[in-house]
Amino acid sequence: MNKIILTPADNGQLSYQCGTAFTGTIVQSEDRNKILKRALRSGKNITLEDGILTGTTSKKADKMPKKLKTKDRAQIAFLKTLDEAATSHPDELKMSDVNWKYLVRSVLRGKNIMMTGPAGCGKTFAAQQVAETIGRDLHYFNLGATQDPRSTLIGNVHFDKSSGTVFAESPFIKAIQQPNAVILLDELSRANPEAWNILMTVLDPGQRYVRLDESTDSETIKVADGVCFIATANIGNEYTSTRVMDKALMDRFVTIEMAMLNQFDEFDLISKRFPHADKDVIRAITEIAETTRKECKSDTARITGAISTRTTLEMASLTYDGFSLIEAAEVTVYPQYDDAGGVDSERTFVKQIVQKYSQDDTSEDLFNTDQEESEDTTQS
Ligand SMILES: Nc1ncnc2c1ncn2[C@@H]1O[C@H](COP(=O)(O)OP(=O)(O)OP(=O)(O)O)[C@@H](O)[C@H]1O
Ligand SMILES: [Mg+2]
Repeated sequence: MNKIILTPADNGQLSYQCGTAFTGTIVQSEDRNKILKRALRSGKNITLEDGILTGTTSKKADKMPKKLKTKDRAQIAFLKTLDEAATSHPDELKMSDVNWKYLVRSVLRGKNIMMTGPAGCGKTFAAQQVAETIGRDLHYFNLGATQDPRSTLIGNVHFDKSSGTVFAESPFIKAIQQPNAVILLDELSRANPEAWNILMTVLDPGQRYVRLDESTDSETIKVADGVCFIATANIGNEYTSTRVMDKALMDRFVTIEMAMLNQFDEFDLISKRFPHADKDVIRAITEIAETTRKECKSDTARITGAISTRTTLEMASLTYDGFSLIEAAEVTVYPQYDDAGGVDSERTFVKQIVQKYSQDDTSEDLFNTDQEESEDTTQS
């Protein structure tokens, strides 16, 4: 077996040198020529056995110009794709540009990504948006609602009279075998610990397989190339129903932290979703939400949770459908707060906030028409 370095001949054909003793032209099928050309461009040594190409080695030949290395070409192509996707940050998704770029880059690199943050801040939505933007298939699995992790993640065994025991693989097993699929493991933090155990090998970059049975010699299914896992988790003191995830499992992820929106972004988001809704009402909704968010962070907080973007959007949708602000809050916000303790309860506190901003809204409507009109003119 000889290792040789390919060089292009003057006539454009590929020729090879074997030591100094022999030079010849390789006449190969089209496929072989492609391999040879690729090897040539990247400066790889190739292996010949009795003149027949049997493989290329990763060892680089000396003195290849840097710009011709395959690795650089691949990197240039990657950077181009990343740049295109990073600049296509969807308008309707509010997250910082750097987080969006990190999310896109992690998907393109086939990383395991953990989106963390409070309820309703856009974790699931961001995962859906990134898959759509880069044109990947998204497979959704809600692990928080799963009672039987083994059948959800692996499948079920049935008994059939004619064929005996039959294994029906789960949609998850089908999904992980699809190259470049994006797999959303939604609410992983609420999953049954058995689901975490099953996912340990799947998410380990050195393993990337799932074992169909608990016995160590059972069949395994490999995760296809380019598959990316995005998990979502509510992590923090606020979320007592969330299980504390195993450190070894968390270590398998890069983390992207999403936060509650600021008032400006929230106003912009709601206005885009409901372009014909009354701007003053939207402003009041965002002020109510912002007040609860600030209150939660204070040392003397009188409420344990803030109003989420999911809720503000629902409030906007109700007011758009003819509910007053107070009615919208009554059906969407108040049920989220405990009323134990009467006047000192969390619910009473939140009601006061809502009333404060609803009154502002009403008084402006009734008495400050001139001011409102001049504001409208300034905006338009
Ligand atoms: N940052 C955001 N940008 C755009 N839309 C958002 C954002 N946050 C929330 N939303 C909207 O609010 C709704 C809820 O968002 P989503 O389901 O993604 O929240 P989540 O963080 O996954 O919540 P949970 O922890 O409860 O699962 C969606 O309709 C989404 O469009
Ligand atoms: Mg979610």
